[in-house]
Amino acid sequence: MCGVVGYVGPRQAGPILLDGLQRLEYRGYDSAGLAIHNGSGMSLHKVVGRVQRLRELLDADPVPGSSGIGHTRWATHGRPTEENAHPHLDCDGEIALVHNGIIENADQLRSRLTPGGHSFRTETDSEILAHLIEDATGSTLEERVARALPHVEGTYGLAVVSRSEPGKIVVARKGSPILLGLGDGEYFVASDAAAILEHTRSVIYLDDGDIAAVTMAGYSIVDGYAQVQDRIVSDIDWELGTVELGWAPHYMLKEIFEQPETVLSTLRGRLRPDEGTARLHGLNLSAAQAAAIERVVIVACGTSWHAGLIGRQVIEQLAALPVQVEYASEYRYQPQLALPNTLTVGISQSGETADTLEAMRAARRAGSRVVGIVNVVGSTIAREADGGIYLHAGPEIGVASTKAFTSQITALLLLGLHLAHARGVPTDEGRELVREMLEIPARIEQVLRLNTRIRDIARIYADAGNFLYLGRGVNFPVALEGSLKLKEISYIHAEGYPAAEMKHGPIALIDENMPVVFVAPTDPVYQKVVSNIQEVKARGGRIIAVCTEGNDDLRALVDHQLWVPAVPPLLSPLVTVIPLQLLAYHIAVLRGCDVDRPRNLAKSVTVE
Ligand code: F6R
Repeated sequence: MCGVVGYVGPRQAGPILLDGLQRLEYRGYDSAGLAIHNGSGMSLHKVVGRVQRLRELLDADPVPGSSGIGHTRWATHGRPTEENAHPHLDCDGEIALVHNGIIENADQLRSRLTPGGHSFRTETDSEILAHLIEDATGSTLEERVARALPHVEGTYGLAVVSRSEPGKIVVARKGSPILLGLGDGEYFVASDAAAILEHTRSVIYLDDGDIAAVTMAGYSIVDGYAQVQDRIVSDIDWELGTVELGWAPHYMLKEIFEQPETVLSTLRGRLRPDEGTARLHGLNLSAAQAAAIERVVIVACGTSWHAGLIGRQVIEQLAALPVQVEYASEYRYQPQLALPNTLTVGISQSGETADTLEAMRAARRAGSRVVGIVNVVGSTIAREADGGIYLHAGPEIGVASTKAFTSQITALLLLGLHLAHARGVPTDEGRELVREMLEIPARIEQVLRLNTRIRDIARIYADAGNFLYLGRGVNFPVALEGSLKLKEISYIHAEGYPAAEMKHGPIALIDENMPVVFVAPTDPVYQKVVSNIQEVKARGGRIIAVCTEGNDDLRALVDHQLWVPAVPPLLSPLVTVIPLQLLAYHIAVLRGCDVDRPRNLAKSVTVE
């Protein structure tokens, strides 16, 4: 969940590391730090809080040096203090390292190292790695890192430098992503390609167990068995603009407005209008294998889990397959029954969520075929899965997920169509759906025009203490997602419920101070939702309704109507969620919240 960056080359490392850290801040922002080597010595700088503070420090007192490592932290072990910020040092300040991951046997290692005279300055698990490397023998830093790491249980994406080996960074990976960036006579290290995109598009994603040594002269990689490896160089095809704010005041708003384009990217080249299905080569699922599937299990967390709930209805309706949707964090610890003829689908924007990864591994052990719906190319889930669907939504930097959600729903629709076709389900409905899916980017464009009106509504409710979000059928998960968006960025308590469940408890909360958002497009459950709206109205609740264009029936019942274009019910989440994203965004801005970096959160949850 932390961000790691490193540089060796002819340029000054400081500004490159700071720019990289700023781009990685969405991965954690409790503290930041860097270590820079100037050829004869190493200097260390750390701050509590944002990278901007580190920048101010270095602007006031520039640190020369052409190699170094940097880190932005999301605290797990130890409070967000300056001592606990990375880089961490060994006893003599010879070794400095930055770490993303968790050292599970930290306590045992600390007890083992302490009698040998090691003294620990921090509360972190990461510091222990510096002392382990200090103790390890070897004539080069990479040898010592290789001898130290077998003692470690847990996960790491690690970058290490040594005072006595200037111009060298040693990196290692197990369970936490780390990549090398290949420039022209210069090299980069990063936990995430966004950090180095402005310098190079050629990257090598390290595999678990890899240890690489990077100098200005080149790089070498060995695997966990000390065998030299020639890893594939990948090209990143994101535009730099996708990681820059451009016109928007926040990444979240930018990403909400990108959705016509990002949904189109998820669809591009995959729909087969004539056959009413989708082509998904990346799934690596033959027609015979698809036909043999008897059930689908979806595992995911947070917003991705909400997409999974929609996926359940999509796949059940289109492919007539039973689908079970599980919180990955729960599923991974449940006793696994045998899963023959099962397709397990892990959904993850980052492709690094620890619980989702482990749930997928558990399903594989139980005999399931495992595929991923992932945005980040080369991420751990993407690499471990038997196949999958990339979202192609470009980097999502706002911590609150928006464009990944609509692309996940789109990918699940593609999967539903694909499975339906492979299983011989008649294609008429598929053809109609494909036609409508091609129109979705334009429909989203239309919904985005509500932005100003939604900002006006946000002004009325920005001081609310609670919110309720209600929906039914395929729009119940949209209600969950709307409430999650609001609570995570505005810190207003919000709950999502299936609209009819309200009378089994939450209705007690309703009075004139309780804004209730109904997701009520015209669909087979619309009339039922109207009854639920009546129940709230009767108790004085303030109602915002997302409903279908042309529907004027609710005028007398609700306080605010937000009309979205008519689309087939299964596609409706793609348009109904947009007003909820915008509502959460504007309320958070009006409350002065840090929309892109909400408190306590991080973009990629690599700890369980
Ligand atoms: C909410 C949000 C989180 C993520 C969750 C899973 O806005 O972003 O709930 O959806 O942490 O992350 P991924 O999709 O990366 O596995």
